[in-house]
Amino acid sequence: MGWKEELASLTQNRNTPSKLRFDEPLSKYNYFGIGGNAAAYFEVSTTDELAHVARLKKRRSVPVAIIGRGSNLLVSDAGYPGIVIRLSGDFNRLEFDRNRVEVGAGVSLPRLSKIAASHGLSGVEFALGIPGSVGGALIMNAGAWGSSFGDLVERVQVMTDKGEFVNLSHDDAQFSYRHSGLRSYFCVTGATLTLTHGDAGEVENLMQDLYNQKITSQPFAEENAGCMFKNPSGHSAGKLIDECGLKGHRIGGAEVSKIHGNFILNLNSATAHDVLSLVRHIQDHVKRERGVDLEMEVQLLGF
Ligand code: EPU
Repeated sequence: MGWKEELASLTQNRNTPSKLRFDEPLSKYNYFGIGGNAAAYFEVSTTDELAHVARLKKRRSVPVAIIGRGSNLLVSDAGYPGIVIRLSGDFNRLEFDRNRVEVGAGVSLPRLSKIAASHGLSGVEFALGIPGSVGGALIMNAGAWGSSFGDLVERVQVMTDKGEFVNLSHDDAQFSYRHSGLRSYFCVTGATLTLTHGDAGEVENLMQDLYNQKITSQPFAEENAGCMFKNPSGHSAGKLIDECGLKGHRIGGAEVSKIHGNFILNLNSATAHDVLSLVRHIQDHVKRERGVDLEMEVQLLGF
C-alpha cells in the first residue's frame, strides 16, 4: 500500500468530519489565490488523525505542510508533492477560564479577537484585521500596532513527529520579531493565553479602531498575503519600497499596492512566478538604492 492509500484508510468508512482530497488546487486555500495542486489536501479534525499523519511523514518520508488559513503564504505554480494540512474540528476549541484562554491552533484570529472582546478581555484587539490562524500567529509571532501574539502566550502545545503532545513554556517557544522556535516541531496544536480583564465596550472600541486603521492604511479588497517583507531593523519595508518609487510596479498579474508598499496584490490572475519576480525586483532595487536587504515575511510552499 502506498502513502496515499494509507492516508485514505484514515478516513474511509470512519465517522469523521475530516475532509481528504487528492490532487486538490491549493489556490482555494490561500489569500493570494495562487498555486498549483497538492498531492493530498487533508482537513484534519481529530488529534488521532493528526498523530497518524505525523508518523506517516516520518515512516514514509512524505512531505507534510501545515498551512493554517493561508493568509501569509505563497504557493508554487507547481503545487506541493505531499500532504497539505489544515486544522479544524478539535483544533477549533476556544475555552475561557477567567482571564485565561485555551485556544486551538485552527481558530482564526478575528474569531479569537471578537470572542475575547465579548468576554471583556483585552490583549488581542490588534488581531481582528489579521486573517490568519492561531497556529500561524504562534509560529510567525504575528503582530500589529506594537503588539505581538507571543507576548500573550503562557504555554504552547505542540505535536512531535512521533505524534506525541509536548507542552512548552513561553520561553521555550523563543519568540522574537516575526519569529519563533516552534517550526522545529511537527505541528503547533494550541496555546494558553493570558489576557487582561477590561471593560467590554472599551475593548470593542479599541478593536474596531485598530481594524479601521488597518483598512485605511493597507489594501484589503484585492487578493494578497499581508506584508511581503519583514521590517529591517530601524526601517519600515513599506516606506523604503515607497521611497524607491516602486508602488504600482507590475510584473505579469502582480502589482505593488499603491496604498502600502509592503503589499503585493494578485490583480490579474498572477502566478507565483510573477509574484516572486516582483519580490526579487523590489529586493534588488531597495538594496541598490538604499543598501538594505529585505527578507521575505510571507512563507513559501512547494518551491
Ligand atoms: N509608509 C509609507 N509608505 C508606504 C507604507 C508605509 O510612507 O507605502 C510609512 C507610514 O506612513 C508610516 C510608516 O511607514 O509612517 C510605517 O508604516 P505602517 O504603520 O503601515 O507600519 P509597517 O511598519 O509598514 C507594520 C507591520 C504590519 C502591521 C502594521 C501596523 C511588519 C512587516 N509590518 O507595518 O504587519 O499591520 O505595522 O501595525 O512588521 C504583516 O505582518 O503582514 C503586516 C501587515
